[in-house]
Amino acid sequence: MASPSSFSKAILSLACVVLLIGGASAQLSIYYYAETCPDLFETVKPIVQEAIAQEARMGASLLRLFFHDCFVNGCDGSNLLDDTSTFIGEKNAAPNQNSLRGFDVVDKIKSAVEEACPGIVSCADLLGIIARDAVEILGGPGWDVKLGRRDARTASQAAANNSIPPPTNNLDALTSSFQNHGLSQKDLVALYGAHTIGQARCTNFRARIYNESNIDSSFAQTMKSNCPSVSGVGDNNLDGLDFQSDTTFDNTYYVNLMRNRGLLHSDQQLFNGGSTDSLIRTYAQSQETFFNDFVASMINMGDIQPLTGSNGEIRKNCRRIN
Ligand code: HEM
Repeated sequence: MASPSSFSKAILSLACVVLLIGGASAQLSIYYYAETCPDLFETVKPIVQEAIAQEARMGASLLRLFFHDCFVNGCDGSNLLDDTSTFIGEKNAAPNQNSLRGFDVVDKIKSAVEEACPGIVSCADLLGIIARDAVEILGGPGWDVKLGRRDARTASQAAANNSIPPPTNNLDALTSSFQNHGLSQKDLVALYGAHTIGQARCTNFRARIYNESNIDSSFAQTMKSNCPSVSGVGDNNLDGLDFQSDTTFDNTYYVNLMRNRGLLHSDQQLFNGGSTDSLIRTYAQSQETFFNDFVASMINMGDIQPLTGSNGEIRKNCRRIN
């Protein structure tokens, strides 16, 4: 049996491990800027609102920016950095190139926030606030965003290529990708509900609508009319990820999956006779349950490896390291 002193040493090391794992995210707080930038939320939201009023899809694009940030070495604003002659960032990584959008809106928000409270609010935190506002404006739930992340002074194109799951993934690969980021299969299913808004390019769903059998035939037919079978033709033609309502944040994405109307191969993997089918049924039946779980999972995703304390910096311009 362990002696009392080795027992307390074991408890102490366990506490250290817990602190190390949870430490950085434990420093995040919903009140982080309450004193230093009290008008932060009132500064951000109208600009998100205006961008969505101009183009409803922009809400989806802004939400996706947060996901593509958090999955690549943590939520640290790394995907906002521009490439330069001496710096290769993440914007031209395969999942991002010709696909990620909304950078101008982030610039506009950052400028307004810098005017209100210069040098205080990180770009990484802005992405979290913007994602929340976009979801809420399009009819989804609201939540308190944990804040206090700092901005990366690096970026990694290789990590962006490796860490963001491609739409060709099967359920097992999607599940392990989320596990690698400390997220559960439930987080995967709940966060995937983000595909209730926004659009995808033909190049990302061509193989599914022409070759797969777990697809509703009339849905496939409709999608084919805008996505020619020949690779290279119409690659950038767009269709809604939730073909019924791609500018409303609701639970119809899950209803579509139950009818084999998922647009991406990876979407339909969530309802394909596997372990996630029952959760899809739950979310398709109860928008409230989906909203509650989506919020919890967005908070979990926002906790991935934040830079805190003296790590990183508060960028002046989200596109450049200071
Ligand atoms: C789980 C694995 C995921 C895969 C494989 C995946 C894949 C994709 C793909 C291929 C597109 C279309 C891109 C294009 O054609 O240019 C897309 C769009 C989108 N994704 Fe995901 N995604 C995943 C998870 C997520 C998560 C977790 C979120 C947010 C929480 C998200 C939010 C979005 C949004 C909002 C769009 C539409 C963007 C727009 O219209 O600009 N996705 N996703």
